[in-house]
Order: sequence, then C-alpha cells, then structure tokens
Amino acid sequence: MTRFIIRVVFLLLPLFFALHGAEKDKAKWDNIYSREGYVYGAAPVAFLKDKVKLLPKGRALVLAMGEGRNAVFLAEQGFDVVGVDISEVAVKKALLLAKERGVKITPIAADLEKYSIEENAYDLITCFNYLQRDLAPQMKKGLKPGGMIIFQTFTIDQLKYKRGPSNKNFLLRRNELLDMFHDLA
Ligand SMILES: C[S@@+](CC[C@H](N)C(=O)[O-])C[C@H]1O[C@@H](n2cnc3c(N)ncnc32)[C@H](O)[C@@H]1O
Repeated sequence: MTRFIIRVVFLLLPLFFALHGAEKDKAKWDNIYSREGYVYGAAPVAFLKDKVKLLPKGRALVLAMGEGRNAVFLAEQGFDVVGVDISEVAVKKALLLAKERGVKITPIAADLEKYSIEENAYDLITCFNYLQRDLAPQMKKGLKPGGMIIFQTFTIDQLKYKRGPSNKNFLLRRNELLDMFHDLA
C-alpha cells in the first residue's frame, strides 16, 4: 500500500508543478500589467510595422499578445485578429485598446502551454518576445496554404546588454528560428 501511494505521488508531482508553474506565470504577468499605462507601449513592434504590407491579409493569430499593441495594429490594418495571452489583465487592456482605436479583436485568456492552435486556420501567425519552442509544429499546422509566420524574440546575444530575459531557455540560439521553420522556406 505504501509503495502504491509513493508511486501515485511521484506520478502526480509533474502535474502539480505544471499547474503551479502556470498559476505563478499568470500571477507574475497579471502583476506586471496591473501598472497604469502600457508596459511595452501601445505602438506596434517596429519590425511588424515595417513588414505589414508583405503579410497576407485575413485571419491573424497573435501569440502572447500582451496588452495588444500588435494585435490592435493588425486589426487596424484590416486583419481579423485572435490574440492569446495567459494574463487576464493584459487581455482586458488589449480589449480596451482595441475599443479606443475603434477596432475589434478576439482576445483569449489562455495558457499557451496547454492551448491548441486551430489547424489550417490562419493567414498570419505572429509571435513577439515570447519563446515556447514546442509551439512551432502547431504554428506551422495553424497556417492556411500561403500563410506566414512573423516571429521576433531575443537571441542569446541579448545577454551582453544586461536587459531582457536572462534565462537562457527564453533566448534563441544563433539561427535557431531558421532551423525551427526551415520546412516553411
Ligand atoms: C515579454 S511579454 C511580450 C508581450 C507582447 N508579445 C509584446 O511584445 O508586447 C511576454 C508575454 O507572454 C505572455 N505569456 C507568458 N507565459 C505565457 C503562457 N504560458 N501562455 C500565454 N501567454 C504567456 C505574458 O503574459 C506576456 O504578455
């Protein structure tokens, strides 16, 4: 009996840590976004603004959208935008930003570690300043034929600037994105 209990505890431990980790992430980001104003500003990432004319119009999925600066910008450009973020505070702020700018987005408060991207559903999938390597296969499957992914986040070289993520798990190795998405080329 004792053995059985120990086995069950060992089997449940990873689940406990996974759930606890997600709660901690949500609480952390809710807290960050509870400040007044926009933590990363309300203007889109410059790379997205520069490249938007090259992107195929239609349905866009904005991963880890934060307070909505990129999601709202895409909606202003005529995209039909779904944005996902673990922080409910961020999602509410994104909705408000969209309302202020007179556009609509579909915000979803969800943990991307457990989220399933709809397959063959998006003309565009974006990911800015968020790295979850195991999402790559789902991102590819989420694209409609001719769809595009725009992905920008920190590389390992960021460490020398002493700002941005310091955890190497959240930093791209050199050419890692090229390898991750080489089959889309
Ligand atoms: C550095 S911020 C970038 C936000 C946004 N992409 C931008 O550039 O303005 C990282 C974002 O990832 C979100 N995030 C962190 N872990 C997440 C998870 N497991 N699922 C969904 N979103 C997550 C955070 O809430 C936060 O908004």
